[in-house]
Amino acid sequence: MGDLRCINAFGPGFPGHLRHSQRSTSVRLGLKMRIAIFSDVHANLVALEAILADIRQRAVDQMVCLGDVAASGPQPHETIQRLIGLQIPVVMGNADAWLLEPQPYSGENALYQKVSEIDSWCANQLTEEDFKFLRTFQATVEIPLPMEGSLLCYHGSPYSNTDVITAGTPDDDLESLLSGFQALVMSGGHTHVQMLRRYRESILVNPGSVGLGYELEKSGEKSHNVPWAEYAILDWAAGSLSVTFRRVPLDLTMFRQAALQSGMPHTTWWVGEWCA
Ligand SMILES: [Fe+2]
Repeated sequence: MGDLRCINAFGPGFPGHLRHSQRSTSVRLGLKMRIAIFSDVHANLVALEAILADIRQRAVDQMVCLGDVAASGPQPHETIQRLIGLQIPVVMGNADAWLLEPQPYSGENALYQKVSEIDSWCANQLTEEDFKFLRTFQATVEIPLPMEGSLLCYHGSPYSNTDVITAGTPDDDLESLLSGFQALVMSGGHTHVQMLRRYRESILVNPGSVGLGYELEKSGEKSHNVPWAEYAILDWAAGSLSVTFRRVPLDLTMFRQAALQSGMPHTTWWVGEWCA
């Protein structure tokens, strides 16, 4: 699949430019930066490899991961090892924090029980090196752009990896979730749904989920998982900013095989969540 949405060639009228208009035009316009942003891999190595192959074709300068890397999927150790090899900044997601301090579910909801058992299995697959890597994750990561602006990365919000920001979050709530923070682009994951939204002079980007993207019903409940891996590319070039949302199809045969060979509990149910 190709680009879902290419937007916003912000020209000289963009307020950020006005604010920084005293800077040398030759410096500002002569620099380019392309950043791949991805989130919520959820121990799905097949999906991670799919986006990495897609990213390789796009000559990015940098990658950043917004967290939730190794819970709720069949290849937690392998996924972490792949990320260690990438040597990129990673934000601490709520699922990463759970792996560091597991709190198994003890209620009566059958779905939560299944997910909790899968997550406990994930934690048991990790080596000391894996845990050491998880402990390096940061609450926020800030990447300077070739101007006086930056890309601010978080998982839920800059304040908490369990906060939820969606296209429908009321403006007043958004103010409290982001107040005190300023960046040209702010990017978080957690909802597993791609999103673009304006907030004051910032653009909010949610790159969706690499390994556990899903479709929501009107009630807000998940209906099924989607057979593709999602991420986003941020481009700053010649005075323009653009955001590209990517969908990369999953090799479902390889994906099912990896899951069924993993030893993860509830594998048949887990694979069945991808209805395609
Ligand atoms: Fe997640």
